[in-house]
Amino acid sequence: MSNSAGGHRYGAAVIGCGGMGITHVEAVANHPRTDLVAVVDWKEEVREQCQRDYAAQNAYADYTAILDRDDIQLVVVATWPSTHREIVEACLRAGKGVLCEKPLAPSLEEANSMIDTVRETGRKLRVGYILHYHRAYNKVTEMIREGALGPPPYIMRLLGGEHTSTCEHWRRDLKLIVETSPGIDCGCHYVDIMRRVTGADAVWVSGVGARTESETPSDNFDYELFSVKFDDGSSGIYEVGWTHQYRNFSEKEFVGPAGRIRLTYAHERRDGYREEGDQIEYYRYPGELTVINMPPGFKRVGEELTDLIDTIEQDKDVMDHLDDAYGSLAIVLAGHQAAVEGRTIWLQ
Ligand SMILES: NC(=O)c1ccc[n+]([C@@H]2O[C@H](COP(=O)([O-])OP(=O)(O)OC[C@H]3O[C@@H](n4cnc5c(N)ncnc54)[C@H](O)[C@@H]3O)[C@@H](O)[C@H]2O)c1
Repeated sequence: MSNSAGGHRYGAAVIGCGGMGITHVEAVANHPRTDLVAVVDWKEEVREQCQRDYAAQNAYADYTAILDRDDIQLVVVATWPSTHREIVEACLRAGKGVLCEKPLAPSLEEANSMIDTVRETGRKLRVGYILHYHRAYNKVTEMIREGALGPPPYIMRLLGGEHTSTCEHWRRDLKLIVETSPGIDCGCHYVDIMRRVTGADAVWVSGVGARTESETPSDNFDYELFSVKFDDGSSGIYEVGWTHQYRNFSEKEFVGPAGRIRLTYAHERRDGYREEGDQIEYYRYPGELTVINMPPGFKRVGEELTDLIDTIEQDKDVMDHLDDAYGSLAIVLAGHQAAVEGRTIWLQ
């Protein structure tokens, strides 16, 4: 059995080289087991710059150009969600191992079709749940699972997403708002955290949304807040705003009968000790405080690539991973629907 630390190199392609895709391009270019054989993007200036900056061997506008290439075994898909199903299924059918950005798809029907294609082809698909590689979230999850907060129910307050500070940033956000919504796009990460922390299933979800930017489509929102009830009694709220007016207020807190855990990202530390990393503050009732500093690191996409390689080489089953991706997608899609329709959606 080999592992990603050694062994032969894989040819890789990145499809979609925008805001997130470029992070993957960099990871592929720097990973000890991969060669950047191709970058693919509709936009000429994007793919050409990528090719120049990361010495990609080829650059294409159309992803189908990579399907028959035997020198490409791995594909990262970082295009808009509406394109994921077609591209991912074509790559799986062409025999590639695929890492697809979240959200897996804009609908459960499309997500199901992709999972069916994994079953049918026997090829490996992983989804870009980057917080699975976030050391501080993993530590918090472990602490809670080991009883740091006492038994459930828990209160999970995951507030704050993205701050649209520049016009360029807003144009990117708008493209994703047109595709899905901030609550779906970003929320799948955080609802996934709620599921990981509790190990519970969602019972119902409700939501509110607001439209504060004139360019936001009239049937969608640039601000969303979802509340989720879990079958162990836990409650979670997730809030995100992709608007120029939204202050990047971030609060990530987990509360239980025996204590409280608060996670502050390194770049949001107000105590100035950013270099000490992400901070976990653990209050154990009635008054014991433990502060843990974790090495920072948000977009550890190289580890996603390593996991894909290990999954292929060790022929790991991906169905549990895909069930998780599907489970959080189902909750945020329902949360968005709840906000649009102004009602609670029952999931069980
Ligand atoms: N994991 C994370 O933390 C994270 C963060 C941001 C975005 N994302 C996800 O990454 C994906 C892309 O988001 P983004 O912010 O990078 O968007 P973006 O608009 O910055 O980039 C998307 C790029 O894909 C290209 N593209 C789209 N469809 C294509 C197609 N069919 N063929 C060729 N090129 C195509 C576009 O030209 C664009 O350059 C989305 O699914 C988003 O949710 C994940």
